[in-house]
Amino acid sequence: MTDTDRTVSGASIRLDGVVKQYRGQTKPAVQKIDLEIEAGHIVAFVGPSGCGKTTTLKMINRLIEPTEGRLFIGDRDVTGEDPDKLRQSIGYVIQAGGLFPHWSVQKNIGAIPRVLGWDKKRIAERTEYLLDLVGLDADTFRDRLPKDMSGGQQQRVGVARALAADPPVLLMDEPFSAVDPITRVRLQDSLIAIQHEVAKTIVIVTHDFEEATKLGDKVLILSEGGKIEQYATPEEILAKPANAFVEEFIGSGATLAHLTLSRVKDVEHEPVVTARVGDSSQEVIGRARAAGVTWIVVVDEHGKPRSWPSLDEVATNDTVSDYIDPRLPVVAPSSTLNDALDVMLAASQGGVVVTDGRGVVTGSLTIKTVMSVVRGQLDEAREGDGHVSYTQHAEGSAT
Ligand SMILES: Nc1ncnc2c1ncn2[C@@H]1O[C@H](COP(=O)(O)OP(=O)(O)OP(=O)(O)O)[C@@H](O)[C@H]1O
Ligand SMILES: [Mg+2]
Repeated sequence: MTDTDRTVSGASIRLDGVVKQYRGQTKPAVQKIDLEIEAGHIVAFVGPSGCGKTTTLKMINRLIEPTEGRLFIGDRDVTGEDPDKLRQSIGYVIQAGGLFPHWSVQKNIGAIPRVLGWDKKRIAERTEYLLDLVGLDADTFRDRLPKDMSGGQQQRVGVARALAADPPVLLMDEPFSAVDPITRVRLQDSLIAIQHEVAKTIVIVTHDFEEATKLGDKVLILSEGGKIEQYATPEEILAKPANAFVEEFIGSGATLAHLTLSRVKDVEHEPVVTARVGDSSQEVIGRARAAGVTWIVVVDEHGKPRSWPSLDEVATNDTVSDYIDPRLPVVAPSSTLNDALDVMLAASQGGVVVTDGRGVVTGSLTIKTVMSVVRGQLDEAREGDGHVSYTQHAEGSAT
């Protein structure tokens, strides 16, 4: 995404010689780290377990106090700032959302705005906006308790809550590690779409190099003791791993890395025939036959997919019936081809439904298309110098 076509509301982050030495430890958990994160960018921290990702992240909002060094948000030196005040300008999302279990969705989202003294009406309006932003229906979810929601829904509320007071910085610690693969792809794609709208500065910790390359404008690879091994764009890391550690860390995945760097929006889609609940089955079947397809996508009033019955299934009723298929494989333009394959495998299907950034059905993608892209790129890699050339995925919009 280019910085010229959007208003960046995020602030830069700078760590200047920051060290963390836990009490009683002989070696620092994070050795002297110098790091600059550009305003409006997403940076992903990756590295083996125990290398200091969480420690580094939590020093940014001072949930962990640095032993040495200085910390800047924008031009502000926040090293000595009141930590409670600092945290009002830094959203924080943890695994499974970290919601207060006895509070409704609305109360959870309003937590920081209430501290800031917002009135009820403003909090209610903000809640409504944020639920829509994260893809949840406000009327359905406003008064729910976390226990009555799925993990993915809780995670969405966690993101909404972190954005409540419109902080310039969002910190996320393995936010998507507790959900199934299909939900994870959807949440990642939502985050990309949300970021396109709000343009915050986001730091996300993950175990998963693929997730890092999908989400990060830049990826920070750490080794034990918080040592920076490489800090670069995903393309640069894959094309030129800085050293043996990085090479080992990205591992054999690198040969198929173009699956992570190629996005659904970069490849050709097949058209789909859509129908609304209650449409005449005969009419829909007629349209599908004319288009030469053997299945259709049933959409709701917003054009979002609900199910994808075969024509035989459609023919069993006079009108298109209402049914939500919870395993419906769906990908967005920002999904990687690897995601598309994962989703197909998880759903045991040879294709996926493609939506735009807002979840409206735009077409479908088959395993045949994905495989032919892979084959073409592997051939290209073999003919060339061994490096696959990547298309710049950071350009253009997420929708
Ligand atoms: N409160 C603490 N006291 C002492 N040592 C700690 C404390 N918290 C973390 N550590 C140590 O600091 C190092 C870095 O931990 P950290 O949680 O930052 O790693 P991580 O990269 O987030 O790991 P993971 O991927 O497993 O979440 C580890 O060796 C850990 O044992
Ligand atoms: Mg951690």
